[in-house]
Amino acid sequence: MTDLLIKGGKVVTAEATFKADVAVRGEKIAQIGANLKPGPGTKIVDAAGKLVLPGAIDAHTHLAMPFGGTISADDYEAGTRAAACGGTTTVFDFALQDFGERMEDTVKRREAICAPQAVVDYSFHVGIKDVSGDLLSSVDSCVKYGVPSFKVFMVYDFGVTDGVFYQVLERAKRVGALVAVHAENNEMVSMFTKRFLDEGKTAPWYHYLSRPEFVEGEADERAIQWAKSLRAPLYIVHLANKQGLDAVTRARDEGYPIFAETCPHYLHFTREVYRREDGRNWVASPPIKGKESQDALWEGLRRGDVATVATDHCPFQQAEKDWGLHDFTKIPNGCAGIENMYPYILSEANKGRISFNKAVAVCATNVAKLFGLSARKGALQPGLDADIVIYDPKKAFTIQNSLMHGDNDHTIWEGVKLKGYPVATYSRGSLVYEDGAFLGKKGAGRFVKCKPVQITAPDISSIK
Ligand code: URP
Ligand code: ZN
Ligand code: ZN
Repeated sequence: MTDLLIKGGKVVTAEATFKADVAVRGEKIAQIGANLKPGPGTKIVDAAGKLVLPGAIDAHTHLAMPFGGTISADDYEAGTRAAACGGTTTVFDFALQDFGERMEDTVKRREAICAPQAVVDYSFHVGIKDVSGDLLSSVDSCVKYGVPSFKVFMVYDFGVTDGVFYQVLERAKRVGALVAVHAENNEMVSMFTKRFLDEGKTAPWYHYLSRPEFVEGEADERAIQWAKSLRAPLYIVHLANKQGLDAVTRARDEGYPIFAETCPHYLHFTREVYRREDGRNWVASPPIKGKESQDALWEGLRRGDVATVATDHCPFQQAEKDWGLHDFTKIPNGCAGIENMYPYILSEANKGRISFNKAVAVCATNVAKLFGLSARKGALQPGLDADIVIYDPKKAFTIQNSLMHGDNDHTIWEGVKLKGYPVATYSRGSLVYEDGAFLGKKGAGRFVKCKPVQITAPDISSIK
């Protein structure tokens, strides 16, 4: 018995685009094919002239995260509501370990907050702070619990040393876990920051100048070096610079399983935003770089050396961003993007910058494969969760914060014009968004436990 039949649309997968109907039974995709017949009571949705896509998977969000002296503005309800309205049906959140805490306990602590709130499905990566005593063994137990991905930070006051990073890579490799890294050179950031503050240089531009291209690029190279020496897979989060991307490309060409993620804000804006009067709103780490890096990131996406696009959604209210009006170091780091990622990347595809298939690959399919949830999500395929987006390529949309569905009071995307926009989102077969309106339900999202993936080569299509 078919519950939902999406008829007459163009189905887009990471590999192909073809005209087909999509039949949904319960929470799963039941069939994809030509001229599928409804049963009694089947809800029929006319998708003629529309694209039918898998829901996006945002591999990088910080919801209700204590950070920068406050808590990021979107909690699990607001963040996942905004995600649903932007065509994202699964969200990975960073659960930050407390000192002394076992990593599976970190996940359970955040799961307890997330479960009653989330409106779409979710999973976690653990942000590692502490491997003292026996805590490194909790990498194994965390994988068993269903979270086989970890992030280490080379910066911030809770960042880890190179030695700890290396041990995490070693341990993770043994149990098929993937290590993600925030790569910037902490020493250089501290030195430049102190120098600029001493010189009274406090504008947002100095946030950029304290973490310029080579400060990120050098750390990328170092991180890749450690991973290569162990032949361990490595995922570089929020990659924003050309030097680092060149290092990723070289390592991949040599056959190493090194993967890069970039973010929509690096693809759309350049460092010039930090010269604006409201430049503090774009302050995130790593900072947005110059045009040369931006062009390289687009080229990397086309080539496949940038494997995924994710948001690094970490919004702060205007009053909090204003803490840094006279001192860039007081600006909480991070921006909103969870509702904008898929619409923006699809719009760029619609304008011809990349193919729609590539957009689906980097926002959904590749994410599912790398993080061990491809048996459930990331593609339109019979048997997978019916996480589906209907996209109108003809709909013009100008981003305005008043039209967004999160809790943040401003957006760096204000006024950006998109060509095409999602018109409906289904989460496991349930309609959660239609024509600007959120229709989902608080608490309906489920924790998606991920499987460890032994990644030994750079080719994502070979990951089952
Ligand atoms: O500025 C950022 N990116 N804030 C969130 C934390 C992180 O480093 O990902
Ligand atoms: Zn980071
Ligand atoms: Zn982040």
